[in-house]
Amino acid sequence: MRMYSDLAWIWPIISPPEDYIEEALEFTRIIKNNRATMLHLGCGGGHLDRTLKDHFKITGVDLSPTMLELAEKLNPECNYQIGDMRNVKLKETFDSVLIADSISYMLTEKDLQKAFQTAYDHLEPGGLFITYAEATKETFANNKVSHSTHQQDSLDILFIENLYDCNPQDTVYEAVFMFLIRQEGKILALETDKHTLGIFPLRTWKETLEKVGFEAIETKNSICNIPLFVAKKTF
Ligand SMILES: C[S@@+](CC[C@H](N)C(=O)[O-])C[C@H]1O[C@@H](n2cnc3c(N)ncnc32)[C@H](O)[C@@H]1O
Repeated sequence: MRMYSDLAWIWPIISPPEDYIEEALEFTRIIKNNRATMLHLGCGGGHLDRTLKDHFKITGVDLSPTMLELAEKLNPECNYQIGDMRNVKLKETFDSVLIADSISYMLTEKDLQKAFQTAYDHLEPGGLFITYAEATKETFANNKVSHSTHQQDSLDILFIENLYDCNPQDTVYEAVFMFLIRQEGKILALETDKHTLGIFPLRTWKETLEKVGFEAIETKNSICNIPLFVAKKTF
């Protein structure tokens, strides 16, 4: 995925830390325990952590070294490590675990279960795990296009995103990204990227959380009204 490697420099411009403040504050309200420890799986460029770190002691894990470099630069006080949310094993446990938008990279029910198991294994008894479903089978709008424009110094970026489910029978869909990059004195650059993302029926989320041992409640992410799960490790 170019967005998390050679195009990672674009990430802070098209999706800046300020865009994550509300979401981070919502997680803070749910967890209610300031100064708790938090494991953030799939922490990306650390944009959520930028706000979360005022409330929690954060350990972030991500597959992409380039994204982790950005995260470390933004949040030098957090502890970042390379790892895959499906199998990473750290030596400590945490009061809370978060998997935000990066859960979308779980492409099969088996992978979803592995990520939830990682969360479970790294929680203290009584700890909370938060995650959410950006897309579900029930509500997916096929062939949706969105765009946004971004400006930084002499750089102008037009970002276009297209979401497409080629086969509603399987558990994946594709996100195609186009970037039109204009910079003073340079010719127009057109960059593209394609990500494969997971999509499941809503009930799969709750059933899979329960399968690994969580007591889960489904609520709504109040910012974009998508299903959000608060799961407790009861013992
Ligand atoms: C949209 S970015 C996350 C951005 C993040 N919310 C932030 O605050 O900057 C998605 C991230 O998921 C990571 N990712 C994808 N699959 C992963 C996996 N199996 N384990 C860990 N991280 C993964 C990617 O490397 C990428 O950095």
